[in-house]
Amino acid sequence: MYLITGCAGFIGFHMSKLLLKKNHKIVGIDNLNSYYSVNYKKYRISELKKNKNFTFYKFDLSQKKNVEKIFLNYKFTNVIHFAAQPGVIYSYKNPKSYYTNNVIVTDLLVDQIKKNKIKHFIFSSSSSVYGDHKKYPINENFKFRPKNYYARTKITCEKLIKKKLKNTNTSIKIIRPFTVYGPYGRPDMLILKLLSLIERNKTVKIYDFGNQMRDFTYVKDVVNIIYLLSNKIDRNLKILNICASRPIKINDTILLVQNILNKKIKLRYENKRKGEMKITYGSNKELIKYIKFKKFTTIKNGLHETIKWFKKFKNKNLFIKIK
Ligand SMILES: NC(=O)c1ccc[n+]([C@@H]2O[C@H](COP(=O)([O-])OP(=O)(O)OC[C@H]3O[C@@H](n4cnc5c(N)ncnc54)[C@H](O)[C@@H]3O)[C@@H](O)[C@H]2O)c1
Repeated sequence: MYLITGCAGFIGFHMSKLLLKKNHKIVGIDNLNSYYSVNYKKYRISELKKNKNFTFYKFDLSQKKNVEKIFLNYKFTNVIHFAAQPGVIYSYKNPKSYYTNNVIVTDLLVDQIKKNKIKHFIFSSSSSVYGDHKKYPINENFKFRPKNYYARTKITCEKLIKKKLKNTNTSIKIIRPFTVYGPYGRPDMLILKLLSLIERNKTVKIYDFGNQMRDFTYVKDVVNIIYLLSNKIDRNLKILNICASRPIKINDTILLVQNILNKKIKLRYENKRKGEMKITYGSNKELIKYIKFKKFTTIKNGLHETIKWFKKFKNKNLFIKIK
């Protein structure tokens, strides 16, 4: 039995879908917070609820009694922890939300993992922990150079997992995904933002003049990899980048989207935003060696799939924040 936290979110939703396809029983938790459209999150949950093996609880994981209760009621073999406050820019506006939803939530969850002797635990950290470096690609041994509070909270989570779960029998994986994109994506991230603004014929703001590079990684690759990891018992804590290792400039990504849509996008170039990384480019050598996953989706194919989904998706108004 799997526990998926943040199952109404982008990656948690895809992870749950994949596990259900593979006939696993899942308990999913999400507080359906309003960082982006609550109705969009509800829509993802309604999709998951079509499968009888999915049980959903709406509650806040920063409340100790909630976390304790769920572990009392179910015997989980695997816990995959996605629930978090993501986003770089928002971390300047609302740092408290990052402390509560990243640090406090992870701390409470880890206590229950220890107490209930959970067999497998996967924690979704982030490539943001690395910040900018002089040498690329970045491997798992590179130093932390966090550029924003979001990244700092993820580092705190990684450290507390290492400390609190030391000398336990839990098989622990800390994953560091790089710029995940795909169908049912996050409306605060570039690709879906781009598509929904184009749809409404609006101008798209491009920061840092589109010169940043991103190691875009297709969501279906990400969850297939996590699935393989969730089946691999390892007594040693394993930290892994999850990335396609094929960075592309934002300007070139926009050109690809324009070509697929056969439409010129209205752009407005702006300066770099505080806290954003110049380049994300990870090494996936360790990951490939560890689970022998090779077939990363190319950005071209991934964008084709995402745009195909977007065109079919009927409730595009859900991408607009509704509180
Ligand atoms: N999307 C990416 O490119 C990316 C890259 C690196 C790391 N990550 C990490 O992967 C994880 C999933 O990211 P995502 O893109 O799916 O984000 P998301 O915002 O779509 O999903 C996170 C979900 O967690 C829920 N949540 C937040 N706080 C909660 C709480 N206190 N109690 C219960 N539920 C809570 C939210 O409502 C949301 O549905 C996050 O930990 C994120 O930091 C994402």
